[in-house]
Amino acid sequence: MDIQTIGIVGAGQMGNGIAHVMALAGYDVLLTDVSAEALQKAVDTITGNLDRQVGRGKVSEADRDATLKRIVTTQALADLGQSDLVIEAATERETVKQAIFEDLIPHLKPTTILTSNTSSISITRLASRTDRPEKFMGFHFMNPVPVMQLVELIRGIATDKETFAACRAVVEKLGKTAASAEDFPAFIVNRILMPMINEAVYTLYEGVGSVESIDSSLKLGANHPMGPLELADFIGLDTCLAIMNVLHDGLADTKYRPCPLLTKYVEAGWLGRKSQRGFYDYRGDVPVPTR
Ligand code: CAA
Repeated sequence: MDIQTIGIVGAGQMGNGIAHVMALAGYDVLLTDVSAEALQKAVDTITGNLDRQVGRGKVSEADRDATLKRIVTTQALADLGQSDLVIEAATERETVKQAIFEDLIPHLKPTTILTSNTSSISITRLASRTDRPEKFMGFHFMNPVPVMQLVELIRGIATDKETFAACRAVVEKLGKTAASAEDFPAFIVNRILMPMINEAVYTLYEGVGSVESIDSSLKLGANHPMGPLELADFIGLDTCLAIMNVLHDGLADTKYRPCPLLTKYVEAGWLGRKSQRGFYDYRGDVPVPTR
């Protein structure tokens, strides 16, 4: 399967990072979002991140300019019709993703591979509601996309070998490493990472440590680049809670119960960096712990 044009649905944190790395690797990118403002913000973010890479000598000025030229933005989902591969990176809600696939599918070529960047929703269930379950799979990037080396590739029960091989070849062309995961709740990275973050929140909830002591313990004691609470704020506390709920519901084991304090933060609308407050308050010059 010859993949040259990649359609990306959703221009948020993940969508703009995916557009960035795909265009930098030489793919033609069609980036769509319902919001014109989100599309403009995505282009600004990509430009800023490419400029940073130029500044650090990782990307040449000519490659930056060519990369930006390869990204076309559109508010019309139908414009993704000619894509060889589509990566859906919209809001992490199953009803939203399902509605996007329903609107998009009539415009696609029969050969188009359809994928989702979902961090935890069942690939098999999403695939079963499309016209091409054998050409459907999970294509899961890590945040920040331009920096993180891993892409999880998740096979649904019906995904065929050719589809998997084509997606693996794309990951290789990006210079990233693919990890193959079976389609069980939260796959590999989040199956392991989220219970750790949730346990850090329990450690805070039970008063074993403060935000500061928990984060420095893992940074200095286990060489993690970010502490678990700082990382939770970076990912988004609503996303962390949603993934814990998927693990809890899907595996029916109480060891995955979300910490009530995590729920409380989400109820408060303290979702981490994106809302300027979470386990840290980001409204000032330096982040200040909120507990
Ligand atoms: N675009 C391009 N480059 C970026 C970037 C971006 N958005 N953000 C950072 N960088 C680059 C910097 O330019 C810098 O490059 P050099 O090494 O060439 O100098 C490098 O990344 C390091 O950046 P900084 O020096 O600014 O900051 P740092 O050293 O504190 O690293 C970090 C930042 C890479 C984010 C690091 O803190 C880290 O690895 N954190 C953990 C991230 C993580 O665990 N992500 C996975 C989350 S889980 C997930 O995504 C799955 C899910 O479904 C929820």
